[in-house]
Amino acid sequence: FSAEKYNVKRKNFSNVQAADVSYFQSILGNDRVLTDRDEVLPFNIDWIRNCRGQSQVVLKPKTTQEVSEILAYCNKKRLAVCPQGGNTGLVGGSVPVYDEIVINLMLMDKIITLDEISGALVCEAGCVLENLDNYVRGHNLIMPLDLGAKGSCQIGGNVSTNAGGLRLLRYGNLHGSVLGLEAVKADGTVIDCLRSLKKDNTGYHLKHLFIGSEGTLGIVTKVAIHCPVLPKAATLGFFGIKNFENILELYKSAKSSLGEILSAFEMADNLAITQTVKNLNLPNPISDYPFYALVETHGSNEVHDGEKLSNFLNKEMESGLIMDGTVTSDPAKMQTIWNLRESIAASSLVGGYVFKYDVSIPQKHYYDIVPMLKQRLGDKASAVFGYGHIGDGNIHINISVPQYTKEVVSLIEPFIFEEVSKLKGSISAEHGIGFRKPQFIHYSKEPSALGLMRDLKQLMDPNGILNPYKVLPETN
Ligand code: FAD
Ligand code: MLT
Ligand code: ZN
Repeated sequence: FSAEKYNVKRKNFSNVQAADVSYFQSILGNDRVLTDRDEVLPFNIDWIRNCRGQSQVVLKPKTTQEVSEILAYCNKKRLAVCPQGGNTGLVGGSVPVYDEIVINLMLMDKIITLDEISGALVCEAGCVLENLDNYVRGHNLIMPLDLGAKGSCQIGGNVSTNAGGLRLLRYGNLHGSVLGLEAVKADGTVIDCLRSLKKDNTGYHLKHLFIGSEGTLGIVTKVAIHCPVLPKAATLGFFGIKNFENILELYKSAKSSLGEILSAFEMADNLAITQTVKNLNLPNPISDYPFYALVETHGSNEVHDGEKLSNFLNKEMESGLIMDGTVTSDPAKMQTIWNLRESIAASSLVGGYVFKYDVSIPQKHYYDIVPMLKQRLGDKASAVFGYGHIGDGNIHINISVPQYTKEVVSLIEPFIFEEVSKLKGSISAEHGIGFRKPQFIHYSKEPSALGLMRDLKQLMDPNGILNPYKVLPETN
């Protein structure tokens, strides 16, 4: 259990009683109140199987009104809750620590409206990202974010984590593309900021409080989001690179050669790719190289864009920055390459235990920590590798070990956060703070900013029932 593993004390919340369960059943009916141990178990365990909670109750509301009634009741009774979307979060924020009641949004999955002129989509928070993308593609639009978890993660979860993903470089983050939202505060008050306007400077921009606050300030129930136009042409290049310096040079060159059509620039080191190929039996379209770069374009002219990317490949093969590579606009071939990149996360779950870090660092020093950690851990780690969204300065560092031990933890933490802090980086670039990192948040947040975070929490959730033990560090 997370509580014992990470030595966290239970806060003074009430325990769920039979009368509470009866109350929830009176609002939701028996089917949408899970209390059977086996049924509840998957909602207690996170995607990387690192955190495990002890909840005995999962609630599945279908409407904002139901969420509001549940929260008003829990707040009055001092019952703690854990909001949950697709449970793909990577920092333990989506599962309870003790017996918090899980409020899972999966049944709030209706698309409400799509304005094809402005590209504004309005939907419920439990819509799965991939379903939304398929829907808007039918109307010549795409979702402004894409990530490997798209088949399970929900838009409410994406908003609550301010998920970044594979195309942030081109389409920006959710603070830009979320036009409005509806959320329920801890006391059950529904906050209606569900506007679909691009411009709306009418006072404080309250939606931002819920974007990235990981379920600690409210439960997001509806989202209005701007969808960019479906590009007429997409091309993808996958390149083998000699060393990390050349990746940076290639990125600079891609920005100047591909300019406005560049939609993703991702990198992975040799081990990230070879391990994915091996563990998941996936094909690598090129052979073995020290580093790999994945470069995608989204534009409006297939011939023109394909030519641009092929010219880029030829030029940089001549210059030596690219050792070998392939460029394609065939959807099936593109899917194979993207699948290889998106499966790195899942591949590291095969065998043993994985420590995952998600940091942003000025690009010059992007890869420095990987060799540092390799040296520090020696044969205590079976693999240390790096990959990520180099266009955003965001690297994922995975450390695989045969099994979780306190000794390995003490070699990695806080070392990795100290190094990131020295480089003026962020200890969580896109996955959030969740349950795993509150005690390290000070490496990236000044005391003044942390103080304001606490004030906001106190204002919006004075009893602290929303996702306790997450994001904010304990004060001793
Ligand atoms: P959950 O995991 O269920 O919840 C995440 C957090 O949000 C929790 O704190 C939870 O309490 C809260 N929450 C969820 N729904 C709500 C709601 N409606 N209201 C209030 N709070 C809520 N992240 C990236 O940023 N970029 C990536 O490229 C990326 N790739 C991934 C690839 C894989 C294979 C996996 C497994 C994860 C990846 N993630 C990535 C991490 C993860 O943050 C995202 O998958 C996603 O945003 C989480 O959405 P979810 O619905 O699964 O939320
Ligand atoms: C990714 O970019 O693949 C994700 O953020 C998941 C991960 O960190 O493995
Ligand atoms: Zn990522």
